[in-house]
Amino acid sequence: MSCRTAILISGSGTNLQAFVDAVTAGSLDLNLCVVFSNNPEAFGLERAEAAGIPTACIQHNDFPDRESFDRAVITELDRFEPELLILAGFMRILSPAFVAHYRGRILNIHPALLPRYPGLNTHQRVLDAGDEWHGSTVHFVTEELDGGPRVMQGRLRVDPDESAEELQKRVQTVEHQIYPEAAGLVGSGRVVFRHGDAVVDGELAEEPIVRTYE
Ligand code: GRF
Repeated sequence: MSCRTAILISGSGTNLQAFVDAVTAGSLDLNLCVVFSNNPEAFGLERAEAAGIPTACIQHNDFPDRESFDRAVITELDRFEPELLILAGFMRILSPAFVAHYRGRILNIHPALLPRYPGLNTHQRVLDAGDEWHGSTVHFVTEELDGGPRVMQGRLRVDPDESAEELQKRVQTVEHQIYPEAAGLVGSGRVVFRHGDAVVDGELAEEPIVRTYE
């Protein structure tokens, strides 16, 4: 049975689209059981509908605090019985209770080679620092923002003359490759979260799986 997978979005959903395309092409074995958004205007909801995936939306502004919103999201998501949660541009910080409820079953993608550059504006920060390499990281979500164990990184060489926008576009193309691949490894059970670490094929993974792109 394919792993029941919820995808959480807030915006455009190009990563969501990469999942849909990979499942449709038969290269990714996940059951995309719901796409959830906190933003009713998110274009990703239209992508989900076009793909025939159930959608759900709860607006965080309707709740007095993070905890009550997160409780409502849990209740809604659990109707779909997800085994894996994919954060794909979900612009919300998760409460500890939310992370605990789905412990070891939430993946995020962050546009930097973590642990370098957690937080925002990663592309400009990489250019400002003159780094040779940049990319994106798929990691398990823990209470620490952008800090959970890394599963996979896609890296590319930085052109010092490119703009932050150009770099961002190239990194997103990398994301569309590595996120479905990494999620597939988790969905199939080859990669698991155990005692705060990523375990790959039964071996503790000190370093993420690395894919290099031109
Ligand atoms: C991605 O670039 C990811 O790194 C970040 O949010 C962005 C989402 O983009 N976490 P999209 O909505 O999938 O196009």
